[in-house]
Amino acid sequence: MNRQELYQILEWFSDAGVSDVTSNTRSVQQETKKEISTLTELREIISKIDTPIKKCALNMVFGVGNENADILLLGEAPGAEEDRQGVPFVGQSGQLLDKILASVGLDRTKVYITNILPWRPPGNRTPTNQEIELFRPYVLKHISLINPKVVICLGGTATKALLQTSQGIVQLRGKWTRIDGISAKIIPTFHPAYLLRSPSQKREVWLDFLNAVKG
Ligand code: URA
Repeated sequence: MNRQELYQILEWFSDAGVSDVTSNTRSVQQETKKEISTLTELREIISKIDTPIKKCALNMVFGVGNENADILLLGEAPGAEEDRQGVPFVGQSGQLLDKILASVGLDRTKVYITNILPWRPPGNRTPTNQEIELFRPYVLKHISLINPKVVICLGGTATKALLQTSQGIVQLRGKWTRIDGISAKIIPTFHPAYLLRSPSQKREVWLDFLNAVKG
């Protein structure tokens, strides 16, 4: 394509009122912010997102638990078992998470659980910045629809994604914070998968969950 042909195409888009070449994604995001008023609608919109991780996954993993919960737990992304079952935190990390919940008098019927990414990244790799950017508006919408009082961010990736910070989880853990777009208070803590490798940090996580319960 030469410059003149490119110019003509851009002019055509401009005449048609299209000002952004990524308008397909943007329009879904705008729709997410403005029009989605139920979890069913949100699930439907997310299921239609065109992203490579979806093609490698078995199931979409949306969210689970009490839709009227005061506490929402936000993880990173589904692992292999979550991908198989289509439910967040049902593998080894999930079993530890259930114990942490029980230690503060909670269980899955009292909280809501979701992740930054709704599909398992191939080989359980860390979500890319691009993936986080794509899904963050849907995460904010998801949180707004549940409308919890407290969001517990599980691990560095979920924390960085939600808070849009470059600070590490060691600095942020246990510190209350807020962000634009959601009314809940946020408390970051270590991810259960990290606790499986470093059990000595369990006490810190227990304290963070106790704080979250107190609100
Ligand atoms: N780790 C996560 O962050 N989320 C899950 O759902 C499972 C493991």
